[in-house]
Amino acid sequence: MILTREKPATAAYKLSDPNLISEIDRLTFQYGLDLIPAETVLTENLPLLKVTRNQIVLEHNDQTFFFHPSMALLRMINILRGEGDRFLQASGIVTGDHFLDATMGLASDALIASWAVGEKGKVIALESSPLIYILVQEGLSRIEKICPSSIRNKDKEEAWICLCQASSRIQTVCCDHALFLKELPHSSMDVIYFDPMFRTTIGKSSSIKPLKNLSYQGALRKETISQALGVARKRLVLKEKRNGGEFERLGFTMLEGSKYNPICFGTIELQKTGGGSSCCL
Ligand SMILES: C[S@@+](CC[C@H](N)C(=O)[O-])C[C@H]1O[C@@H](n2cnc3c(N)ncnc32)[C@H](O)[C@@H]1O
Repeated sequence: MILTREKPATAAYKLSDPNLISEIDRLTFQYGLDLIPAETVLTENLPLLKVTRNQIVLEHNDQTFFFHPSMALLRMINILRGEGDRFLQASGIVTGDHFLDATMGLASDALIASWAVGEKGKVIALESSPLIYILVQEGLSRIEKICPSSIRNKDKEEAWICLCQASSRIQTVCCDHALFLKELPHSSMDVIYFDPMFRTTIGKSSSIKPLKNLSYQGALRKETISQALGVARKRLVLKEKRNGGEFERLGFTMLEGSKYNPICFGTIELQKTGGGSSCCL
């Protein structure tokens, strides 16, 4: 679902097979995209969508971006082996919870959350960048077709099945989380999660790096956290740089983790009594 106030994204396209032209009609109709054949684009530095039977790849400013659940798969394998997952520990989500991922990105965390809350729970994932939204939504909806060829052992296969099931239960919305939070009823979600873009990308091989061009990079606003405090029942969770000052600025308590890891999770715990919460900014 697209609720963004931005005008529809414009992109050039190339098809791997001319028979896929109906995909262009579908993408235009479904997402309100303005798609132009790449061979007719002369000067503009437009993002280029390469459409194949199983996948959509976006090229822009020397970066290639496509949906790949490899990080979620690795995490899922470890979780099923009984190893801890820092995001799951920080969010504390359990079966049946309603979880709002306010910054979907590549949806790795949303996939893990969807597995954790199970069929009785609910995951809504929000993304403000229309092109990221479309690539990830398309990837989630056809995840079974992009099954990694390297799946050869039982652990991986089991984890892959969990991800496919989790994927089908995620509701995605293309919008700014501040707008969405305004519309949600009081105490309607258990946990709300923020994983905004860092000002500087950590590590050259970061899987999030190709997202940088396309993503929304504004800082999380205090008003947004105040809104989220009214909507959440259990806690807010923030993933941020250890020494970036964001936990302090936004009122989160940083959780203990490895002191060598530059990325940390922080929470604001909520004890709702009647109409309010015990925490305010
Ligand atoms: C670091 S990525 C999130 C990665 C994600 N947790 C994952 O597991 O792949 C941050 C994403 O949040 C999006 N974003 C940033 N601010 C937003 C906002 N106000 N509303 C919705 N999405 C936002 C960015 O466009 C970007 O795609």
